[in-house]
Amino acid sequence: MGTSVQEIDSAIDKGLEGIVACTTKVSSIIDATLTYRGYTIEDLAAKATFEEVVFLLWNGKLPNKNEAEALRADLVKNMDLKPEVVAVMKSLPAKKAIPMDYLRTVVSSLSMFDPDVSDITEPANRRKAVRLTGVMGALVAGFHRLREGKEILKPDPSKGVAWNFLYLLQGEKPQEDTARAFDVCLILHADHELNCSAFSARVTTSSLSDMHSAITSAIGTLKGPLHGGANEQVMKMLLEIGTLEKAKTFIEDALQNKAKVMGIGHRVYKNGDPRAKVLQKMSSELTAKKGIKHFFEMSVQIDTIMQEKKDLLPNVDFYSATVYYSMGIPIDIFTPIFAVSRVSGWIAHVMEQYSNNRIYRPRGRYAGPRDQKWTDIGQR
Ligand code: COA
Repeated sequence: MGTSVQEIDSAIDKGLEGIVACTTKVSSIIDATLTYRGYTIEDLAAKATFEEVVFLLWNGKLPNKNEAEALRADLVKNMDLKPEVVAVMKSLPAKKAIPMDYLRTVVSSLSMFDPDVSDITEPANRRKAVRLTGVMGALVAGFHRLREGKEILKPDPSKGVAWNFLYLLQGEKPQEDTARAFDVCLILHADHELNCSAFSARVTTSSLSDMHSAITSAIGTLKGPLHGGANEQVMKMLLEIGTLEKAKTFIEDALQNKAKVMGIGHRVYKNGDPRAKVLQKMSSELTAKKGIKHFFEMSVQIDTIMQEKKDLLPNVDFYSATVYYSMGIPIDIFTPIFAVSRVSGWIAHVMEQYSNNRIYRPRGRYAGPRDQKWTDIGQR
């Protein structure tokens, strides 16, 4: 007697919804509250710098002044791309590459220049953590410069990751309030409990593979439109809609056609994503400042329609799209920017996994045919 398809479907929770797959002290989602190491995201967004958050994620405590300054300086030092890395970057077809593919490939290649590549002891992991987190923003910015036929720039050692990222990308010193707004974006995206890409990173780590492999896996996972890729799709949708008057019909048509509206809905948050609330306010202010408030108004209308019609709320990707757009960031690097921040969370998970590891090896319930009889190739 075989197992019926219905029995199999009911036995397996597709997408592992609600399954607790690890114990973590890195971050928590409880109803609509997100914390990193017990600190609420609202508090961190209002008071912390990205560098303080990185320290917190990796060490479980807030840094003192010297610790925060040392980490900032170390991260920024790693934004100065080494000639061998630039050589790899220049060997790749930046002009036609999909940005996340380019990033994934370059990050993977970094292992070949890292003296600690195979050393998975804690001191070596901490050194790699700083190198990988520092370099990520420089890779994304450098990629954009190269595809535009421009020179790769050097970071300002006196500034932080957010300021330097905007500078390396745009070639102009950003205004302090813009740099701070971007810093807040980095904070909001830094970690998110056992999200799809952090899970990927932990699975790779669980085989006792190395940090570069884990981060490369995570970048590949983040790329998908159901995860980090959604922010780009949101901005493309807003541009396609074009005007506030057209938003309602566009969304109604999308729902009629059973299409998903990007940036809306969440597996865990059913009462709203706290990050979206912070970003909504930022989007309102930044779009007004840039004279593109209609994109914010369209977003609010879409948000309202989705609540009314589907009882679904915006996630982190919804309002971050207009925030990044207001900063003049090219749409196709919205998702790579997610990696610039999330690498810090992935690394916190990687280190936690190493510290209490058992290989991830779940089961797949077999639902295919049984008792097959072999037929020789000439008889098929
Ligand atoms: N637009 C329209 N309908 C949506 C929707 C969206 N963005 N998100 C969920 N739904 C609907 C589904 O169609 C489904 O409806 P049904 O029960 O009538 O079939 C129901 O809500 C449950 O959705 P499901 O896809 O099963 O939820 P999930 O937990 O598997 O997926 C997301 C969660 C985030 C992947 C999903 O909401 C989504 O695809 N959102 C858009 C992509 C996105 O913004 N991703 C970034 C996440 S941070």
